[in-house]
Amino acid sequence: MLREAYPEARMFISFEGIEGSGKSTLMASVERALRAEGHEVVTAREPGGTPAGDAVRKIFLEPDLSVNAVAEMLLINASRSQLVADVIRPALARGAVVLCDRYVDSSLAYQGYGRKLSLELVRTVCDAATGGLMPDLTLLVDISPRTSHERVSARGAGHDRMEQEGEAFHTRVREGYLELAHHEPRIVVLEGERAPEAVADAAMAALSAVLA
Ligand code: TYD
Repeated sequence: MLREAYPEARMFISFEGIEGSGKSTLMASVERALRAEGHEVVTAREPGGTPAGDAVRKIFLEPDLSVNAVAEMLLINASRSQLVADVIRPALARGAVVLCDRYVDSSLAYQGYGRKLSLELVRTVCDAATGGLMPDLTLLVDISPRTSHERVSARGAGHDRMEQEGEAFHTRVREGYLELAHHEPRIVVLEGERAPEAVADAAMAALSAVLA
């Protein structure tokens, strides 16, 4: 995969967090705010976002399928490779702002810290899928595994293959995310147990620092 140059104005923002963190709600608020400021905004969600990626998503989340950790990581990166090539790179090349609901940090947190695959292996496979394309800013919405469990149960969800993992798994994922954020200035941690408006205000503050 070729590494391409982008216009200076390129802006690629990913949204991360454990289930029920409110990252998708936050992404919708950021999308509205950026559109109101006149930006062209392209949104995507992983796994999925292309016809091949949506097919992978079905396999990935199907509770009745047995998928081992390495297979899981390869599946997600097959979807990611297609999304980067067909959606993200073309959008950035024409100067759009790209918002992505989960990206490489999800693989590091879930397959690396959660499933205990080597982080080096996960990074290598992600790099092959993305050609090295990383977000300019990552908004990590942090909540406790207990809040996650309560929110997921309250919305009647909790039935896909990943949601069925226990508390120990989700605790490792959350701690993995925080560890990644500790080492990467690109990742901004937002305290997610507040009202959605308060999280959105904090996100817009982080964003204007990067967009300025
Ligand atoms: P989804 O229903 O989109 O959940 P959410 O609303 O929490 O994003 O399911 C995506 C699931 O896939 C989620 O449990 C996290 C998992 N996942 C990984 O394990 N690794 C990855 O690299 C990605 C992108 C997602």
